[in-house]
Amino acid sequence: MFKKYKSLCLKGLLVLFCLKSGAQSPVRTIGNVKKVDIAGQQIKITAENAYAEITVYSPTITRVRIDKQPLGPDFSYAVIANPLPTKIKTNQSAQSLVVATDSLQVEITKTPFSIRFLTIDGQVINEDERGLTTSWVGDAVTSYKTMQEGERFIGLGEKVGNLDRRNEGYTNWNSDKFGYATNVDPLYATIPFYIGIHHQLNYGIFFDNTWQSDFNFGASNNRFSSFGARNGEMNYYFIYHQTLAGIISSYTSLTGRMPLPPKWSLGYQQNRYSYYPDVEVMRVAQTLREKKIPSDGITLDIHYMDSYKLFTWNKERFPNPKQLSSKLADMGYKLTVIVDPGIKVEDGYAAYESGKQSDIFIKYPDGKYYTGQVWPGWCHFPDFTGTKGRQWWKTQIKGYTDAGVNGIWNDMNEIATWGQKMPDNVLFNMEGHPASHLQAHNIYGLQMTRASYEGARENMNKRPFLLTRAAYAGSQRYTAIWTGDNRAEDDHMLLGVRLLNSLGVSGMPFAGMDIGGFTGNPTVGLYTRWMQVGAFIPYYRNHTQVNTKSAEPWAFGEEALEITRNYINLRYRLLPYLYSNMAAASRTGVPVMRTLAIDNTFDPSVYDTRFQNQFEFGNAFMIAPFESTKEFGQVYFPAGKWYSLYTDKVFNGKQEQILSLSFKTLPVFVKGSSIIPMQSLTQSTVEKPADTLYLHVYRGDQPNTFVYYEDDGESFDYEKGGYYQRSITYDPAKKQLQLDKVTGSYSSNFRYVSLLLHGFEDMDKISVNGKGIQLQKQSYSFLSPISRFDPQGAYFEPDRCAIQQATFENGNQLINVDL
Ligand code: NOJ
Repeated sequence: MFKKYKSLCLKGLLVLFCLKSGAQSPVRTIGNVKKVDIAGQQIKITAENAYAEITVYSPTITRVRIDKQPLGPDFSYAVIANPLPTKIKTNQSAQSLVVATDSLQVEITKTPFSIRFLTIDGQVINEDERGLTTSWVGDAVTSYKTMQEGERFIGLGEKVGNLDRRNEGYTNWNSDKFGYATNVDPLYATIPFYIGIHHQLNYGIFFDNTWQSDFNFGASNNRFSSFGARNGEMNYYFIYHQTLAGIISSYTSLTGRMPLPPKWSLGYQQNRYSYYPDVEVMRVAQTLREKKIPSDGITLDIHYMDSYKLFTWNKERFPNPKQLSSKLADMGYKLTVIVDPGIKVEDGYAAYESGKQSDIFIKYPDGKYYTGQVWPGWCHFPDFTGTKGRQWWKTQIKGYTDAGVNGIWNDMNEIATWGQKMPDNVLFNMEGHPASHLQAHNIYGLQMTRASYEGARENMNKRPFLLTRAAYAGSQRYTAIWTGDNRAEDDHMLLGVRLLNSLGVSGMPFAGMDIGGFTGNPTVGLYTRWMQVGAFIPYYRNHTQVNTKSAEPWAFGEEALEITRNYINLRYRLLPYLYSNMAAASRTGVPVMRTLAIDNTFDPSVYDTRFQNQFEFGNAFMIAPFESTKEFGQVYFPAGKWYSLYTDKVFNGKQEQILSLSFKTLPVFVKGSSIIPMQSLTQSTVEKPADTLYLHVYRGDQPNTFVYYEDDGESFDYEKGGYYQRSITYDPAKKQLQLDKVTGSYSSNFRYVSLLLHGFEDMDKISVNGKGIQLQKQSYSFLSPISRFDPQGAYFEPDRCAIQQATFENGNQLINVDL
């Protein structure tokens, strides 16, 4: 005890001595502001120890740059937007400078430099923690923000932990984490964007720095939240918006949005590591069709290659890839192949020789190629951070698209070298501004998918499907993402839901996880539950590790097969709803699979760890996933009125309910006032549905609009107006449903609209554009009966709801339905 006291006194004396003797603090602060230059929307600040630049990007977005040296021109792989002309007002005094748009005030205190963001009426949204602000320890820079009372934090992309990240700390360094535990950080992707929520306010911070970065949301401290990086500039975008969805839209206006995916990529995808040879691939495809499991994609993992050599095919296993892809296409399947960045060092191997000749591999500073080990053995790696490397890769990708491949699955692109640490001193082109591995690491995956996307797009002349493991902010412009090597465990299924929800708020709406789990073998119950949840996940793919048991839907017994099929069927019938929502996500950035926090930001219950796995699928459905072992589950119903999908039983909002669970049905609820377009069941997206669009409308109290969208599902014609879009609005006060006039030049696949009304039992008639139509009472189910005995010896008869139905002609004209 005494010893400890003595050492503390000595330390205190040492600090006093250092300060007195004028020794420099190891922490460098910005100091007092010496000079302010205002030029249009940009303010340049010279302080004692640093330089800052504040740029207004839009009324809701402000960029802050701070560095130890004068700020020159800079470059970003993530941000593709330029500042929008924005009216600003400035007000300067000896103590401060205030820059105001019509939505936000940025206040800079001068002695010492410190920054605050306020609403127009003066509420503090976010502020530097005085005394700490932005500072450096060596080259590492960090900004410290006062922790507001009750502040919550969400986002940061693919990060484990709770929905509310308060009290946690995270690192961004894209890492290959085989069979990761549910508390492991970092994983594969870096999205340094988070949203802070407090006092009915929410804001976003995007820290655009590619070096290893760290975020602290009150981990081991009760004073601040912070974000910083090992090197590079403090460079962040502050986004203020009244709604959380508005913040996501603003963030994706900076970093870009997902291009509209090909429709087939929203269908069910069958995968394993690996299906081979070609007859095995055909067997899987044929079995899916025979067993009437709707599906669109089959994926080839690394065993399609010759000794894992990229851009080759194993001649024995796959003698004729083009013939295989065309046979699959005849059955309505698209082929996706895996690509890894490692090119085997082997004399005479075409990709290795041409890569050397084109000088596209990354090198050490002495000009020697970097060599690292991955599947094929010792490899060189293309430099995707320069046009030359990307161009080379694009010509290689052509080999796949020429063979009829439609999807490129970009794996191991962290770069993964057997989970080993890659040397810091490897150099990358970085668009002509050479940078070390330390700076380039986190954007390698982003640039690889850029090259793959551009190559596939140019060669295919159709929408390609891209999937990646590693990512950086902005990756959504090129690719979907999946959450890597999870485990066949219940808590992985639930963690996966949170990872996908978090990717959604972080600008990546097209995301999925290995359904069923990558490592290990799921129980029948877990597999079934996961496949049910998967029906509501944007990228719906079953995948498993080499040497695990078969994991196709028929591998878990008849009952599991029937239940699984029921939900895949539902997914296919929901395609008009899902596709319209994906189109909306590509326009606005707001994800389809979404945490309840998007629509209920200030409701504390949605962050309750008991309810944090609940999610919305578009704004109509709420899914409550539970461990497969649970017999009862507690569900929280946020504000509004909720219908059980199966019975139409109504649950009022703002309450918790304990429900009994069955492995035959996943708890799914529909929000009052929802509008859900559906179609007849098809076995793939290639098969045309019947000519009736089924429009489910749920009685509610709030007006609601759904933007219905259709196009050919595969070409880029939609970019030139080749789509069919109309808003459908339900207005309970006016007792009206209005289908707006159609925009776009595409003709709908649906000749008729059949209206299915839920909760309108008191009605027997509607009028469509003034013409009365009788409603038909129906009993309806979203699931099919299961016509086999289960172990208890009973048939499964799904619950049914009572609906009122009427059918009328579709078309392009305005349709007014009086309810
Ligand atoms: C690692 C990926 O995460 C996994 O999905 C894949 O099956 C293996 N690599 C083999 O390619």
